[in-house]
Amino acid sequence: MFCLESDIKDISQADKGRSRIEWAERQMPVLRLIRQRFEKEKPLEGIKLSACLHVTTETANLMNTLKAGGADVVLCASNPLSTQDDVAASLVKDFEVPVFAIKGEDHDTYYRHINAALDHHPQITMDDGADVITTIHAERKEQAAEVIGGTEETTTGVIRLRSMAADKVLLYPVIAVNDAQTKHLFDNRYGTGQSTIDGILRATNILFAGKNVVVFGYGWCGRGVAMRADGMGANVIIVEVDPLRALEATMDGYRVMRSIDAAKAGDIFVTVTGDIHVLRKEHFKVMKDGAILANSGHFDVEIDLKGLLELTAEKSEAREYVDEHRLNDGRRIYVLGEGRLINLAAAEGHPASVMDMSFANQALAAEYLTKHGKELNDTVYSVPSDLDNTVARLKLASMNIDIDKLTEEQDKYLHSWQMGT
Ligand code: ADE
Repeated sequence: MFCLESDIKDISQADKGRSRIEWAERQMPVLRLIRQRFEKEKPLEGIKLSACLHVTTETANLMNTLKAGGADVVLCASNPLSTQDDVAASLVKDFEVPVFAIKGEDHDTYYRHINAALDHHPQITMDDGADVITTIHAERKEQAAEVIGGTEETTTGVIRLRSMAADKVLLYPVIAVNDAQTKHLFDNRYGTGQSTIDGILRATNILFAGKNVVVFGYGWCGRGVAMRADGMGANVIIVEVDPLRALEATMDGYRVMRSIDAAKAGDIFVTVTGDIHVLRKEHFKVMKDGAILANSGHFDVEIDLKGLLELTAEKSEAREYVDEHRLNDGRRIYVLGEGRLINLAAAEGHPASVMDMSFANQALAAEYLTKHGKELNDTVYSVPSDLDNTVARLKLASMNIDIDKLTEEQDKYLHSWQMGT
C-alpha cells in the first residue's frame, strides 16, 4: 500500500500521547457510538480524506472514528502552535495515521504540511479555518474536481467559505459543521469559555477575581468567555459593534463600552471577534502598566502585534507563552501565546466532552458527503437537522438524562390554529 511519510516532532512521545488519547476517548461517548457503528457499516470505505485540524487528543479520536469507517485519512495542523506533539507521535505509531504537524512550526513548514496533506489527493477535505480549501482554490485548482465535498469546523472558516460561495468561486460543496446547534451552542460557548480562561491561567497563573476582564466580541465564544470570567469573580466589560449583541450583553449584566474606554479600564483583554486589529496602537497607548492581552479567535490577526512592536523599546519572554513588551514610556504590556488562540497554544483546547459533539457532527457530515455529496451544489450547507438532533439525543443519553415527549394532545395543540381562548 502506498504509505505517506509523516513529519512530526518526536516519535518517542507516542506512549504519553496514547494514554492521553485514551483518556479523552472516555469523555467522548457519542463519537464512540458512531465509531462502533462505522466499524460495522464501513460508510467511508476507500474514501481519501485530508483533515486540517488542531492536532489534539480529541482530534485523534475523530481520526480513529473516520478510519474505523473505512476512510484513508491524513492529518495536518490547522494552526502552527496548537499541535500536541505526543498525540501526533501516537497517531503515527499506534494508529497508523500519517501526520504533518509540529508544535511551533514556522509559516513555510505549516504550508508545506498542508500541501503534504493535499498530496494525498483527498475526496473529502476537513478544515478548521479553511486553509486546505483556500490552498486548493489558490494553488491546486486541478484537484478540486477530485473532491466530493468538504467540512468546516469554525466560524471564521465558514465566513470565508460563504464569501467564496457568494462570489461563485467555491469549487465544491462544503458542510458548515460550525453551524450545527450541537456544535456552536456548546463548543463555541462552553468550550471556548472554559479553555480560554484555562490557557490564560496556565500561561500566567494570575487571579481573575477582582480583575477587569475586557472581552471583545459577544458572539457564542465571547458569551462563553464572559460567563466564565464572571463566574470567577472578574468584572467583565464587553466591547461590541453589533447593537443587538451589545444590548444582550448589557442585559446579561455586563458593562458595555467603546474599545478606547475599555482599553483604559482593563487588566486582561481577550479578543474573540474573528476580525483584524481589534486591539491596536490607539489602545496600547492608553493601557495600564501590566495589561495582559490574549486572543482566542481563529487567526492571529486580532491583536496588531506589528503596531505594538513599533511602540516597544524592548521585548523579552517573561514566562513560557508570555512576551513582555516594555514600551518607550516604561509601561509593560504582556502578550500571551504570540497572539495565537490561547486555549490551544497554552492549554489543551476545549475539553473532550464538548469536542465529542463537534466531532460527532464532523464524522456524520463526512458520511453524509460520501452518500450525498454528488447531489450537492458548490455552496455552503448546514448540517442536516436530523443529524444535529441525533447528536443531541445521543449526548443526553450518554449523560443518563431522560426527557419528556409531547402528549398526543399537546402535539395536536401545537399543530392546530383553530384552538384559541
Ligand atoms: N478546537 C478547540 N479545542 C479543540 C480540541 N480540543 N481539539 C480540536 N480542535 C479544537
